[in-house]
Amino acid sequence: MTTRPLSGTAQDIRTAARLIQDEKLVVFPTETVYGLGANAFSDTAVSAIFTAKGRPQDNPLIVHIGNTAQLQDIAVSISPKAKLLFDTFAPGPLTIVLEKSKHISSKVSAGLDTVAVRIPSHFIARKFLQECEVPVAAPSANISGRPSPTSFKMAWNDMQGRVDAVIDGSSCTVGLESTVIRITENNILLLRPGAITKEMLTEITDLPVITPRQLSKVESPGIRYAHYQPDATVYLSRNLNLDLIKHFPADQTAIFSVNTLKPNHFTCIHFHSIKEYAQKLYTSLVEMDHRNIRFIIAETVSEEGLGLALMNRLKKSSAGKYVEDLSFDS
Ligand code: TXA
Ligand code: MG
Repeated sequence: MTTRPLSGTAQDIRTAARLIQDEKLVVFPTETVYGLGANAFSDTAVSAIFTAKGRPQDNPLIVHIGNTAQLQDIAVSISPKAKLLFDTFAPGPLTIVLEKSKHISSKVSAGLDTVAVRIPSHFIARKFLQECEVPVAAPSANISGRPSPTSFKMAWNDMQGRVDAVIDGSSCTVGLESTVIRITENNILLLRPGAITKEMLTEITDLPVITPRQLSKVESPGIRYAHYQPDATVYLSRNLNLDLIKHFPADQTAIFSVNTLKPNHFTCIHFHSIKEYAQKLYTSLVEMDHRNIRFIIAETVSEEGLGLALMNRLKKSSAGKYVEDLSFDS
């Protein structure tokens, strides 16, 4: 398949929207990560997403819309708390699971009677979604299991030859996938942490937020699968203790740090804040593969605010391996 690179001009956005209406696949930028989009009303188009990504069919997709008026095409009803959260955080990196309307392809929800909905804030995403006029189902535009693309280059490298077009929207400002929640009568289930934090959700709704660790795995099918894994092996470290790190081959090991000063004979990526660590995590993971790095040692952060989402992705990238748990012969 030939893949067209498109830009954010009005003409290119119209071309991309026509492709969606013709049941084709279009990769588009959002503020979180790039999405691999298809017409959410079409079984054929939605099925093609799973093939392009190599994604398990039982993992449901998020439906993206350009404005709240389109909610009525997607969800049967929207509770006052859900409305309050959309009014407060949409457009933005928040996805809410609602009761699904029959118009949405059952392929989108993998047979569940719910549907996840999001209104992205990236200006190209908004123009594109408004022009499409149909809701757009889109997972992150990576090959399943790999880090999600947060730049045009990453999206292009993963998806060229598999989709009809990729829209260039430069680098994503958030860099981690959206917060996914379900609202029940008495609480908010945090199915996936993101930039709309647990603290922000509680402040607006006065409801307690139940975190993924407290949830049974069936609530959000996506959390079962391997995720965010580069070719290099990722380890976590609480304090980048050089006595432990010195056992790794210096020419093939990279250190990701944010709090601690970097040890100087390794490849070091220093992030100036948790926000920057989150924004650049996926591009940094993939860049290390290009530099033939075999081991990445990533410093952990405290699990509050955006730190909860960042640690969730770091734990998946590393499959929970800590340098501090290794035993070295010395
Ligand atoms: O930031 C994002 O959310 C990006 C951009 C493209 O919008 N999209 C994204 O999609 O990350 P994906 O498919 O990689 O992740 C969707 C997550 C999965 O964990 C999935 O299981 C969950 O949302 N999900 C989707 N529909 C659901 C539903 N009906 N009930 C529970 N979880 C659902
Ligand atoms: Mg994904």
